[in-house]
Amino acid sequence: MDFGCRVGHYSIPAAFAVGHSGTVYAMDQDQRPLDELMEKARACGLENIKTIKTSGRPDLDMESRSIDVVLLYDVLHYFVQSQRQALLREVFRVLRPTGLLSVYPKHTLEDWPSKELKDLHVSDVVREICACGFRADGSYDGVISHDDALISGRVMNFRKAMDHPWRGANMFLLDRLKGHKSVGSTESEGLGPVLETVEQFKDRTFKVRARGIRASHVPVEEVRRFLQEELPGYYTYTAKTLVYKDRRQVRQARVEIKGWIGLSRRMNRYNPLDFTCTVCTESPASA
Ligand SMILES: C[S@@+](CC[C@H](N)C(=O)[O-])C[C@H]1O[C@@H](n2cnc3c(N)ncnc32)[C@H](O)[C@@H]1O
Repeated sequence: MDFGCRVGHYSIPAAFAVGHSGTVYAMDQDQRPLDELMEKARACGLENIKTIKTSGRPDLDMESRSIDVVLLYDVLHYFVQSQRQALLREVFRVLRPTGLLSVYPKHTLEDWPSKELKDLHVSDVVREICACGFRADGSYDGVISHDDALISGRVMNFRKAMDHPWRGANMFLLDRLKGHKSVGSTESEGLGPVLETVEQFKDRTFKVRARGIRASHVPVEEVRRFLQEELPGYYTYTAKTLVYKDRRQVRQARVEIKGWIGLSRRMNRYNPLDFTCTVCTESPASA
């Protein structure tokens, strides 16, 4: 999604990058540049761009967690702080859990100060973005093609910080996934029973362990969301569930997920990308 796309300086290359199987949503409040963008797209033989004329308000008419990448290039300076916050929250909402926000902040104090960013440094903009639930994830400093010219600039990338109770375990897994999204083989072996088991313990909280990272008091909805949304499609894994009674005769569950990423499907101790995530219920007394 290219928000504030104008005539598509970035939407068009993005459409080439995502190819036939992807879609670029090119959004702008002005219809004229959108028409020009579509003319260019047709001339390039591109059929994977959808233009959307927005209301001018900082909201996005898109489903939650449906977008892989959002570009905010040379557009934030149009919004006052409260609108920037609203827009960034909307971006957070529509991005998938593993999605990427890429920002090219122009017109800050470092670069032709103007409009609503004229009194802000780039670092202030970064702080605002992180205050809306993102964490910085690398940047590009160098030559940028912008407005039909080559200039030097900085594009910064962000990921969702996932501020929930088991952030540690979650980030651990996401970090392991970086750059490995294209691994084709995915086994969902065991996920059905795992979800059913989690469902049976609705009123209880969970402990999560992933390679030494522990998180307690994780609500069952978070466990289910994680399993459903973040495991499938990214790596190969198997899962086991065990329901048993503890010494106090309280029913407990243990869910173990083992997964690996790589060209080889074999998991072994030499593969740095393998992981084990164990999820256990907490008895009501200890919760
Ligand atoms: C400076 S241009 C940048 C275009 C493109 N992102 C680029 O970097 O080449 C900013 C664009 O943002 C659009 N824009 C400004 N305020 C907007 C708003 N509130 N909602 C949607 N688009 C907006 C403008 O119409 C303009 O096309």
